[in-house]
Amino acid sequence: MTEAAVIGLGTMGAGIAATLAAGGMTVRGFDAEPAARSRAAGAIATASRVLGAIRAAAPGGTVAVVDTLADAVGAAELIVEAVPENPDIKAATFAAIEAAAPAGAILASNTSGIPITRLQEAVKTPARLVGMHWSNPPHVIPIIEVIPGAHTAPAIADRLTALIEGFGHKPVRIRKDVAGFVHNRVLYALLREAVALVEDGVIEAADLDTLVKWSVGLKLSVIGPLELLDVAGLDIYKAVSSYLNAALDNRAGVAPMIAHRADAGALGIKSGRGIYDYPAGAAERLGAERARRLIAVRRTLDDA
Ligand SMILES: NC(=O)c1ccc[n+]([C@@H]2O[C@H](COP(=O)([O-])OP(=O)(O)OC[C@H]3O[C@@H](n4cnc5c(N)ncnc54)[C@H](O)[C@@H]3O)[C@@H](O)[C@H]2O)c1
Repeated sequence: MTEAAVIGLGTMGAGIAATLAAGGMTVRGFDAEPAARSRAAGAIATASRVLGAIRAAAPGGTVAVVDTLADAVGAAELIVEAVPENPDIKAATFAAIEAAAPAGAILASNTSGIPITRLQEAVKTPARLVGMHWSNPPHVIPIIEVIPGAHTAPAIADRLTALIEGFGHKPVRIRKDVAGFVHNRVLYALLREAVALVEDGVIEAADLDTLVKWSVGLKLSVIGPLELLDVAGLDIYKAVSSYLNAALDNRAGVAPMIAHRADAGALGIKSGRGIYDYPAGAAERLGAERARRLIAVRRTLDDA
């Protein structure tokens, strides 16, 4: 498979396009916003440079940003949808993609958690629509969840899995099309508890972040949670979870600490204030430092 299209060239789409190209594919990218199409070239070039630093091999393919959806998908064998996380926008996008794409093309969605079965309602050929959930930044984090919906042909999920292995990322097959799939369910369990601990005054936000980064975070990059259970001992886990599980946060709604800030426009880095404050220049400095460290960790793990 050599021809790919990426629809939506925002935070995720640009890195996805660069990764597919680095794997040797000819990629055509399209975004509905002309300004996003103009910005995409820089983001794709940056992601390509990072990929070059992670992998010894020079990028094999190319990315062209085109002005119409039909130009992007007309010859594509794999089409990755990365438009905003809104079921109506995704449904309309898939209907348009299906109308312009070759009959055999794989239609893949980067949705963070909208059930794939629901997206399949938007197309006439649901057997070829499959979830392909990348993690941000998509060119650095190698895991991709492959999520078949109720109507996805097994051969489509198999072809996508093989393709992902071919460009050097790590596909993981999700067995049930559950909300949030697996990556976000695990992450959101951790986020809920972290927010609750800060909200309850058990720990300061900065101390919680330090603690998790240098304990759980460091460990989890080399040992998975179920492997960790075997190391700790299931007798220990049974004893601790018998009293601790009942103490963990299990609120179904959004924590007030988050809702109050979000409603007041304190959205995080993008608004200069969230859990923390970001004075002028801080976001750029932090972004560059985190990217440098993440790439260093990835390279170390690849080489270890
Ligand atoms: N940002 C993340 O950390 C992350 C991680 C994993 C998955 N995702 C998922 O990836 C998808 C994209 O997220 P993002 O963060 O890149 O969003 P984004 O807002 O940065 O980018 C979306 C892009 O889609 C474009 N767009 C909107 N409607 C379109 C249409 N009809 N046709 C073509 N382009 C259109 C927008 O102009 C924008 O540039 C979402 O489903 C999101 O949930 C995001």
